[in-house]
Amino acid sequence: MKSTIQDKTKLVNSVFSKVYKKYDLMNDIMSLGVHRIWKKKLIDWMNPQFNDNLIDVASGTGDIAKLFSKKINNLNKVSCVEPNNDMYLAGKDNLKKFANITWHKAKAEKLPFNNDTFDFYTISFGIRNVSDINLSLKEALRVLKPGGRFMCLEFSKVNNEMINFLYQNYSKTIPIIGKYIVGSSKPYDYLVESINKFYSQKELVNLMKQNGFSNIEYRNLSSGISAIHSGWKI
Ligand SMILES: C[S@@+](CC[C@H](N)C(=O)[O-])C[C@H]1O[C@@H](n2cnc3c(N)ncnc32)[C@H](O)[C@@H]1O
Repeated sequence: MKSTIQDKTKLVNSVFSKVYKKYDLMNDIMSLGVHRIWKKKLIDWMNPQFNDNLIDVASGTGDIAKLFSKKINNLNKVSCVEPNNDMYLAGKDNLKKFANITWHKAKAEKLPFNNDTFDFYTISFGIRNVSDINLSLKEALRVLKPGGRFMCLEFSKVNNEMINFLYQNYSKTIPIIGKYIVGSSKPYDYLVESINKFYSQKELVNLMKQNGFSNIEYRNLSSGISAIHSGWKI
C-alpha cells in the first residue's frame, strides 16, 4: 500500500514536470476550450460572497483562483496549494499581480492550515491525481469552517452512449496530440488511463459521504465528461 502511494506520487510528479510549460495550451487544445466553461460553471455554482475565503488545492497554473478572485473584485483571500515545484512556480508567476492570492507548496493529503479556516475548498482536475483520496477528503473537511463548502471539478462518466463512443475514440488521439505539442505521449497516456480508472459520479458521492460531507450534490457537464461535486461541512 505504502509503495503504491509512493509510486503514484512519483509518477504524477514526473507527469506534471514534463507538461508544465505547455499545460495551459494543451488544456485548450484537448478540450477545445471547453475546460474554461466548466471552470466558470464551478465558480457560478459556488456564488462566493464578500469576505468568503478559498483554499484551491492542486492549483496548477491557477485558473480557479483567478476566476474566483475576479468574481469578487480581487478582495477575498485565496490560498493556492500545489506540490509540484514546476507547476507551483508557473502558477505563482501567472498570478503574481493578485495581492490577495498566496501560494503554498503542499499536498492535498497534508494541508498546512489550521482546522476550520476556509469558507470554500476547491479542487479542479486534481482529485484524480492525489495518492490518497480518503485522506485528502478528510483534510478538506478539517480545514473547512463549519458551514463551509467543498467543490470538486473532475472528469467523470459519460451518460450518453453515442457521446461516449465519440469521446472514447477521441481520447485515443490525445497521446498523439501530446507527442506533437509536448514532445512526449506518456503524460497523456497517464491522463487517459487515470480518467478511465476514476470513480463514477455516484461513487464519488459515496466517498464524500464516508469522509464526513453532508448535503452532497453533483452536476454533470457535457453529458458527464466532467462533473462538479459539492458537499458541506456541517
Ligand atoms: C490537472 S492539474 C489541475 C490544475 C488546475 N487545478 C486546473 O484545473 O487546471 C492537477 C494538479 O494536481 C497536482 N497534484 C498532484 N498530486 C497532488 C496532491 N497529492 N495534492 C495536491 N495536488 C496534487 C499536480 O501537480 C497538478 O498541478
